Amino acid sequence: MSVTVALTGQRVLVVGGTSGINRGIAECFARAGAKVAVASRTEQKVEDTLVALQKLGAEARGFCADVRDAEAIKAGVDQLGEEWGGLDVVVSGAAGNFPALASDMSANAFKSVVDIDLLGTFHVMQAVYPHLSRPGGCVINISAPQAAVALIAQSHVCAAKAGVDMLTRSLALEWGPEGIRVNSVMPGPIDGTEGMARLAPSEQARQAVVDSVPLRRLGTPEDIGRICVLLASEWGGYISGAVLPVDGGWSLGGVSAMNNWH
Ligand code: NAP
Ligand code: COA
Repeated sequence: MSVTVALTGQRVLVVGGTSGINRGIAECFARAGAKVAVASRTEQKVEDTLVALQKLGAEARGFCADVRDAEAIKAGVDQLGEEWGGLDVVVSGAAGNFPALASDMSANAFKSVVDIDLLGTFHVMQAVYPHLSRPGGCVINISAPQAAVALIAQSHVCAAKAGVDMLTRSLALEWGPEGIRVNSVMPGPIDGTEGMARLAPSEQARQAVVDSVPLRRLGTPEDIGRICVLLASEWGGYISGAVLPVDGGWSLGGVSAMNNWH
């Protein structure tokens, strides 16, 4: 049997889609035939991503906004939603991370991650809600293993991403009757990304992560992007309120190996 997942003409917004995993997700949607928009803080990253998406044949859009700025996010989303006449798929993946012990970090350091990851996701959800297709809208929030497994020097990220997953579940309940699905995708350790560079900064640490993954390899942005495309397609049509690990089995326990480094 041959199965092709095509999202021809679907209108997709990836918030935080200008580098790493989220850019990989945006590119997967472009390859599947969707129109793709990205948003992040840095103009140059937005412009570079637009060029890459257009090279893949996509109709691409982009805007600059910080997810902590609810008004800026709403303005960018409203303009996009009006131009495209609505949105079919929204991926919300902007995040911040740095390793720091709770006893060492300032309240503002903790707050900065909660503001980006959790409050930022809420801002994106509120902004996109009026524009989502009903029925048929699909929202994917990007979670992390820290949402489910406690890690040393990650209290801010653990708290924020656990909040993101509960936001996913709450909105799946609230928006489900309108035909809008809301899910979280929980990536494992993804090679070549900023997140990995911050949490496993040496080759020794990187190898320790590889050894702690049941599948004994790091993931790729495409591993995550393909699942997002699948979730957004008719094949994912009865999945809502799920938190889906795409992590080679890492969240079963291997992720705790990171606690040995502190
Ligand atoms: P990354 O390359 O740093 O990507 C973060 C993206 O979000 C960038 O496009 C960045 O662009 C944007 N961004 C950051 N802060 C923002 C803000 N305040 N407002 C708007 N946009 C903002 O990181 P990554 O490692 O690929 O991680 C991507 C996602 O996957 C995150 O949600 C992360 O928690 C999750 N994750 C990553 C891993 C991993 O192994 N890397 C594992 C599990 C989960 P600008 O700098 O231009 O704003
Ligand atoms: N350890 C302890 N505290 C830190 C820190 C670190 N490594 N890095 C930043 N902080 C603190 C700052 O000192 C500040 O607190 P203070 O005002 O009490 O001094 C607070 O965090 C905010 O830092 P600031 O640099 O002003 O924030 P920002 O809004 O410019 O950037 C970050 C947000 C810190 C999350 C930044 O790393 C970022 O933009 N990250 C996005 C990319 C990323 O993290 N990718 C990986 C995703 S998994």
